[in-house]
Amino acid sequence: MRILLLTHAFNSLTQRLFVALQQDKHEVTIEFDINDETAQEAIDLFQPDLIVAPYLKRAIPDSIWQNHTCLIVHPGIVGDRGPSSLDWAILNHKNSWGVTVLQANAEMDAGDIWASFEFEMRNATKASIYRNEVTTAAVTAVQQAVEHFQSVGFKPMPLKQKLLLAKGKLRPLMAQNVRRINWQKDDTATVLRKIRCADGFPGVRDELFGREVFLYDAHAAKGLHGEAGEVIARSGLAICKATADGAVWIGHVKDKAHHHAFKLPATVLFADKVQALFDVPEDEGYQQVWYEEAHDVGYLHFPFYNGAMSTQQCQDLLVAYRQATQCNTKVIVLMGGADFWSNGIHLNMIEAAKSPADESWANINAMNDLSEAIICTTSHIVISAMQGNAGAGGVFLARAADEVWAHEHVILNPHYKDMGNLYGSEYWTYLLPKYCGDEHAKRITQARLPMDVGEALDLGLLNDVITGEKIGFVSAVKTKAAALAEQDNIYKMLQEKEAQRDQDEAEKPLSTYREEELKRMKKNFYGFDPSYHVARYNFVYKVCKSRTPLTLAAHRSMGTNATRRAA
Ligand code: COA
Repeated sequence: MRILLLTHAFNSLTQRLFVALQQDKHEVTIEFDINDETAQEAIDLFQPDLIVAPYLKRAIPDSIWQNHTCLIVHPGIVGDRGPSSLDWAILNHKNSWGVTVLQANAEMDAGDIWASFEFEMRNATKASIYRNEVTTAAVTAVQQAVEHFQSVGFKPMPLKQKLLLAKGKLRPLMAQNVRRINWQKDDTATVLRKIRCADGFPGVRDELFGREVFLYDAHAAKGLHGEAGEVIARSGLAICKATADGAVWIGHVKDKAHHHAFKLPATVLFADKVQALFDVPEDEGYQQVWYEEAHDVGYLHFPFYNGAMSTQQCQDLLVAYRQATQCNTKVIVLMGGADFWSNGIHLNMIEAAKSPADESWANINAMNDLSEAIICTTSHIVISAMQGNAGAGGVFLARAADEVWAHEHVILNPHYKDMGNLYGSEYWTYLLPKYCGDEHAKRITQARLPMDVGEALDLGLLNDVITGEKIGFVSAVKTKAAALAEQDNIYKMLQEKEAQRDQDEAEKPLSTYREEELKRMKKNFYGFDPSYHVARYNFVYKVCKSRTPLTLAAHRSMGTNATRRAA
């Protein structure tokens, strides 16, 4: 079938749906919902059998839903309506939630129901639940709806009929007065829930050091107490605020009135205020990198917020990595975080720097140092284990390891070009030909599209896929890594690895790859073409796209996507 995805942005859910529908052999194209005319133009060009709207911020125009079947993905259970579904579900402690696929009609979220899927809720941020449970449920529900659409005689269920059985209801936009934290009264669990139901967007409006800010990235601060509402400590990137019965770490904040009006680490935004605060060591406070060991395997966790890795974070991780290589283990597993493995250099920190060009340079060099240390490790077999997605330099950093394992729902975006034609580094010019071959390397870097684990496996970006519920991923990785460490031939594997590294080095030193890549990056950062700086600004400030990139809008340029599908 010809399916048009009409969407506000190519977000994680839309990316998963795009690859899943392509896997199901549908012809899929994307149009950003910019205005009525552009949407209509896309329909005229593509002549879709079906329109699916995975992520919209406004209603589908009458002229479109009246003439085409348009299926809306709503992140709520049957009967639930309104723009803050997940926010209410988290705030109201729902044990289970769901996704409903309904047909667009004159009333928002009230059309006939084509499919729905429920899942168990988890104690996590809204963004995390959206990227995981909601996305998985949405893919299943849309696939079901598409099957229903193709089957003769299927009649979608009118909402009114199902409402008799449904638990959902119409809920308003969750305003900031509902989200507001009453620090004197709210206990830690309530504060966490309020912040999590607004994280990644819009955040909870609050006050810090006399400034109005929005809070994100909250964690319980164990063992800390103070006068409710007071900032009582700092740790790593976070500051600690006392609640009615304890305290919470706040990792990230946004000050809309500041000249850097985007999310930044709390101790960066309030650098001048936090020096005097009680400093809690990271391993007792806000911990971003930690190591654990079991059965001859060392596990390095680095759940950096949004998968972004600043210069300092890369350096901290490198220190921890070097320590891990000194341990008496045989395998090191780079675990990343639950939501992202890595999304490359930290674009917000770069945007906030005095000289974004200099900070970009420092950040990419710190990433390269990390990548180089991984590539050059001959004491251990190194595994990258992706629980969550990876993008840009994050994918190539993962490929620096001997093997890359990923959960079956992971989506990779192994390209830099969308960031203003960034050339990229992390030794990708060495790693891609080595693990993927020249042909695949070319395909990967030119495609500029998300890929699922099947394609990544075929192309050599991954070595193995771990199936099953995400909740079982870490223990599955541990079992697999322990089995690898136990193998009789592990010392032989290490010897072969060392010999291969020596041979590669003799053919072309790593330093040459680095020099060549950085020469191109220098032009991106310091050259006459400002594309990277413009693209980064637009990304960090979330400037709405005014057109759909041709790499996504296959109906506008039949070349790119069509070629990829045929390949
Ligand atoms: N630096 C800073 N923030 C980043 C980031 C980065 N490298 N990559 C992602 N983020 C942030 C986003 O701004 C967003 O923030 P929010 O919490 O305010 O919404 C959040 O992480 C999630 O990203 P989003 O773009 O919404 O996720 P997605 O799943 O739709 O798309 C990517 C994933 C990787 C395609 C996309 O995030 C991206 O292009 N990131 C930039 C990658 C890059 O160019 N890195 C630099 C070169 S190495």
